[in-house]
Amino acid sequence: MKRPIVLTGITTSGSPHLGNYVGAIKPAIDASKKENNNSFFFLADYHAIVKTKDSKRIAQSTLEIASAWIALGLDPTQVTFYRQSDIPEITELSWILNTIAAKGLLNRAHAYKSAVQQNLAAKEDEDAGISMGLFGYPVLMAADILMFNAEVVPVGKDQVQHIEMARDIAQRFNHLYGKTFELPNAQIDQKTSVLTGLDGRKMSKSYDNTIPLFCTESQLKKYINKIKTNLLEPGESKDPNDSIIFEIWTAFATEEDSEFMRLAFKDGIGWGDAKQKLFHLINGSLIEARETYFQLLNKPEDIEEILNEGSKKARPLAQSRIKKIRESIGLKPLF
Ligand code: ADP
Ligand code: TRP
Repeated sequence: MKRPIVLTGITTSGSPHLGNYVGAIKPAIDASKKENNNSFFFLADYHAIVKTKDSKRIAQSTLEIASAWIALGLDPTQVTFYRQSDIPEITELSWILNTIAAKGLLNRAHAYKSAVQQNLAAKEDEDAGISMGLFGYPVLMAADILMFNAEVVPVGKDQVQHIEMARDIAQRFNHLYGKTFELPNAQIDQKTSVLTGLDGRKMSKSYDNTIPLFCTESQLKKYINKIKTNLLEPGESKDPNDSIIFEIWTAFATEEDSEFMRLAFKDGIGWGDAKQKLFHLINGSLIEARETYFQLLNKPEDIEEILNEGSKKARPLAQSRIKKIRESIGLKPLF
């Protein structure tokens, strides 16, 4: 029986954070442990250069995110774990897909639209500071996914639109050139969907509002203490559905513990107490992986080796796929 292909990537534009963990890394590792899956996980460094021009940050982020995957239990011998830029066929496919992706479709992309909105709000030209890389970001993502014919894409809710665009582009290609691509589906953990950051916006490397996945215990405590709360006193009943603390709690807790915290909110748990409990919960879930993570950061050569092995697995597949794709669009030897 054909094993479903699971694929996801993380942009290497900063340090891995709790949102990356609950939205992508954890569900992806869980999926990779199901025997009948064939998993592809990668470091989206071509996407990172859209978001930051800080080359040192990208290199450091690549090491950090790769180390995080491994520390959290990814077994690179059981999955294909690689760096996007080691597979040039992906960028080739991205160009091919650019020729069929409708501009109107990309005009509707949230990230592009919000950049335009921000420009208009600042009374700037609507395209100020917007690169073609940002505009075409979803096409490169479609290439990542379609290159390996992935059907299941574990992502946070913020990425759902991109997966739908990849489906749309795949359908168009199949219609024009014959069935080539499977249609991908986003896999979202409803419980956690999108984790909120310290400032109340989506937790994101781009907003500097994250709680890092790995930092020292005392730093973790400090970050958790920074989470925004309201002015309700201990003893006053609190709305769990209006609290970042509760939201992060449910992302890490069992259902039983989530219920316990929901009641504690109704019963008026103090913010200090709730934050302390949250600290213990997160710290307990990450304590083992944290040690491995910090060891791996000091062994970049080991990580490099793992990524090289990964691209040795991914590249031949990409090469054979791109050869067929080229042929189907008419780019082929003359005889
Ligand atoms: P960032 O926004 O920090 O740059 P990425 O774009 O690299 O994060 O996202 C990598 C993966 O992590 C994606 O699947 C994305 O949906 C998920 N993710 C990022 N932020 C969050 C969040 N706040 N909540 C849930 N999932 C998230
Ligand atoms: N764009 C995704 C993000 O910022 C990361 C990513 C790149 C990705 N390519 C992908 C996720 C392909 C899933 C599938 O979160």
